[in-house]
Amino acid sequence: MVIEKKTIENIGILTVNRESSLNALNYKVLRELKKNVISLINDSNVKSIILTGAGNKAFIAGADIKFMESLNKKTALEFGELGHKVANIIENSSKPIIAAINGFALGGGCEISLACHIRYASEDAKFSQPEVKLGLIPGMGGTQRLVNVVGKGVALELIIGGQMIDANEAHRIGLVNKVFPKTSLMEETIKFSKLISLNSPKAIEKSIYCINQSYKNSFSSGLLKEVNIFSNLFGTRETSEGLKAFVEKREPDFSL
Ligand code: CAA
Repeated sequence: MVIEKKTIENIGILTVNRESSLNALNYKVLRELKKNVISLINDSNVKSIILTGAGNKAFIAGADIKFMESLNKKTALEFGELGHKVANIIENSSKPIIAAINGFALGGGCEISLACHIRYASEDAKFSQPEVKLGLIPGMGGTQRLVNVVGKGVALELIIGGQMIDANEAHRIGLVNKVFPKTSLMEETIKFSKLISLNSPKAIEKSIYCINQSYKNSFSSGLLKEVNIFSNLFGTRETSEGLKAFVEKREPDFSL
């Protein structure tokens, strides 16, 4: 099992548990995440959900690059579409989903956190959309959701720069709601979950629905373009070089 599920009172807690790969996303993680999120949404005892990463180092360090090296345009489309499906289920959940970001939230990891309704981070958390370094674009909703969360200018700076930012900078630009010392991140996230569990579940559900409606139409056509462009990059010279370079632990050469 790569997703651990537990409940504390009326809070469902999901932990991505693939520590040896810094909780990177492959098919197994995405499928188990989808199944477990749906089961918590349908559990009448659960009022809110927390998503976090196993270990001390990472929330989710992105899509699994070693696995992505084997993808072609068709299989990359399937993989990207599954990522979109999971992120859409999270975003459209009738119950609030809070990301407790306890380390690296990179690429697809940052994108999954962007689908969550609220992001709390530990002081040592790090964020980036580093896909351009791999000859790719974000493929799990980042080109659309990052713009909605931080605005077009900052989203462009992060996506075409690929640079890593720390938790304080993420807070300054509005990427995360709050930053806590690592030792109190989960405690504070649970505290907020308990607070919202006192509010009307129906009113919370309808608030999430209405806020999501604010950008729905252009959003779905944007997502479609993203996943098509993401998958069409597979097999191209620059993307092959970018993915291979990570696996071979060297800098990519995009100058050829
Ligand atoms: N995919 C696969 N394996 C990964 C991984 C990833 N995204 N991130 C880390 N790992 C693996 C490393 O390869 C390493 O495995 P080995 O021990 O077998 O070599 C292990 O996790 C530990 O990582 P490091 O030794 O590299 O740890 P570090 O502290 O030196 O560096 C890091 C940490 C900066 C996060 C670095 O691992 C890194 O840059 N990872 C890649 C991050 C990335 O580019 N993510 C985006 C992926 S693309 C994407 O997500 C596309 C999309 O939108 C769908």
